Amino acid sequence: MIQLQEVSMTFPGGITALHPLSIIFGRGEFTVLLGSSGAGKSTLLRCLNFLNQPSGGRITIAGIGELRHGNVLRQHRCRAGMVFQHHHLIARQSALQNVLLGRLGYHSTWRSLFPLSRSERYIALEALDRVGLLHKAMERVDSLSGGEQQRVGIARVLAQKPQIILADEPVASLDPASAHNVLSLLRDICKEGNISAIISLHQVDLARHYSDRIVGMRAGKVVLDGKPEQFSERDLAELYSQSIPSDTQKSIEPEKQAILSFNL
Ligand SMILES: Nc1ncnc2c1ncn2[C@@H]1O[C@H](COP(=O)(O)OP(=O)(O)OP(=O)(O)O)[C@@H](O)[C@H]1O
Ligand SMILES: [Mg+2]
Repeated sequence: MIQLQEVSMTFPGGITALHPLSIIFGRGEFTVLLGSSGAGKSTLLRCLNFLNQPSGGRITIAGIGELRHGNVLRQHRCRAGMVFQHHHLIARQSALQNVLLGRLGYHSTWRSLFPLSRSERYIALEALDRVGLLHKAMERVDSLSGGEQQRVGIARVLAQKPQIILADEPVASLDPASAHNVLSLLRDICKEGNISAIISLHQVDLARHYSDRIVGMRAGKVVLDGKPEQFSERDLAELYSQSIPSDTQKSIEPEKQAILSFNL
């Protein structure tokens, strides 16, 4: 379980991406974050493992403590796997080598993974098998399709033996069939291992289909939170309507002024 208490994020330039926000993500829950561009989804995901250090509030991980403590953050990062839109794989390395990177958190350095123990290789091969890519283990990842690369990214997270998966638009660059394939795989993996998932998506239909819970964001605030069946098409479509709350307009104004003052 992850508890956020009054967590906020204002970037050095003055943009407030998250207004003080309190929310609990339960163990084993498959949560989808929805919201238009700039709503704060990536910032929230990045705060959940301190890739963005929140400007205020607390994040507490059940059983280990508050994330702002270095030892808690190290333990949490070891158990929290990240999946990204653009895979973040090493293109010239094989699928197996990329998946082995998931084991790095359990060793002090990349070098300390070598010579590779049978058990490390076995964990990585098991993970590739789980995503249906054992037969591609020795192939360079840049020779794989986008959907396959994303599955290698999931295998890398699996090899990490995670308790939580944070995924930022994991299917944004995939065709509809591959998007379904990757999301249903992620969901099955999370349900089998009682792993919590917090995933940002732009596709409302996929969110409805796969999530246990939808958290809708708008201008750095949570404006919807509940089971998918609680929301009508209209509720969800409204997340993407154009109107911007007036406090956000105010916060953009100095930015415009600064840009206007440049001689382009
Ligand atoms: N590193 C940064 N420095 C300054 N401002 C940032 C930074 N990262 C994000 N922002 C701003 O914070 C706000 C929220 O951005 P964020 O990336 O979290 O939105 P998002 O919901 O993930 O959008 P998208 O759907 O386009 O990915 C935006 O106004 C964005 O410009
Ligand atoms: Mg984003």
